[in-house]
Amino acid sequence: MRRLFLSSSATSPSPQWNLQEIADEYAYPDAAHAAGGKSGAGGESGAPGKSGAGGTAGVAGHTEGVAGRTEDVSGRTEGAWLRGNMVASLDGAIHHGGRSQPLSCQADMRIFGVLRALADVVVVGAETVRQEGYRPARRREVFAERRAASGQAPVPAIAVVTASMELDFSLPLFTEPLVPTLVVTGEDAPAERIALAREAGAEVVLAGEGAGVDPARVPGVLAERGLRRQLTEGGPTLLGAFAEAGVLDELCLSVAPRITIGEAPRIMKGPLLAEPEGFVLEGVLEEEGFLFTRYRRIRQSAE
Ligand SMILES: NC(=O)c1ccc[n+]([C@@H]2O[C@H](COP(=O)([O-])OP(=O)(O)OC[C@H]3O[C@@H](n4cnc5c(N)ncnc54)[C@H](OP(=O)(O)O)[C@@H]3O)[C@@H](O)[C@H]2O)c1
Repeated sequence: MRRLFLSSSATSPSPQWNLQEIADEYAYPDAAHAAGGKSGAGGESGAPGKSGAGGTAGVAGHTEGVAGRTEDVSGRTEGAWLRGNMVASLDGAIHHGGRSQPLSCQADMRIFGVLRALADVVVVGAETVRQEGYRPARRREVFAERRAASGQAPVPAIAVVTASMELDFSLPLFTEPLVPTLVVTGEDAPAERIALAREAGAEVVLAGEGAGVDPARVPGVLAERGLRRQLTEGGPTLLGAFAEAGVLDELCLSVAPRITIGEAPRIMKGPLLAEPEGFVLEGVLEEEGFLFTRYRRIRQSAE
């Protein structure tokens, strides 16, 4: 048992991380290692190696780092790395009144922005797009150099997963993105809606034999398009589907110091797994009582 960080109410001064340091901390495993079996060391830009006691925005680092991933031997998603990012209240709610914003804070939005800035693609369920009024990703000057150096487009593409195709294709998400929005759907999805999506400028990606998408295929079909650094922002139905399919590599869970009670779901929905699945802690950041945790999935060597 050990203490990971000092509470932000402690009086001793504590390190404050800037955006670039947070980005270093969350850098994706490097391409060569991820492609060759997800056993990458460090990150693309090299993690700063901050660890131990922090305080406000302090971190409890996972000392083993990604170099110790002897159990990560699967290359089944062709070099893709799928990270999830969600915020939940202390009592496990993922929204209040249908929106996640009341559970968030400035620091959470900073992490959210950094995770987007590192990603090639943001994968999101259609219900979240409908309820949260998703817009295209914004270009941010502070990350422009980092993205260019990583060979990335100025912003991540947004990829909306849908079976119904019931999306409003006149919205800026489809008509005004800096890089085309993707609509990921099944082969039997309504043809007239697919045509509408294409007319609006979206790229339609088929990843399922019925109307729905096979979640296990999503990381691979996106990686084939050069979108290897993947971030999913949920919601719970989509995140649960990825986890159940065994393709969720990492989970960045923000724990908000709030309770809501009510009926809001947990961060994942779906059928019960036969056995609970294990994750290892990679790091924890803290600000104003919010915890920004990062867990990596433990892979079975037979996978
Ligand atoms: N706290 C957080 O961090 C956070 C993050 C994200 C969202 N949320 C909240 O979560 C709520 C929405 O979550 P949700 O679970 O209802 O919805 P969701 O996961 O965002 O989206 C579900 C929809 O995605 C599509 N979908 C999912 N799996 C699919 C598959 N295998 N094949 C084809 N389409 C698939 C379907 O779209 P169609 O219906 O179009 O077929 C489905 O109805 C909102 O209240 C939002 O605010 C919270």
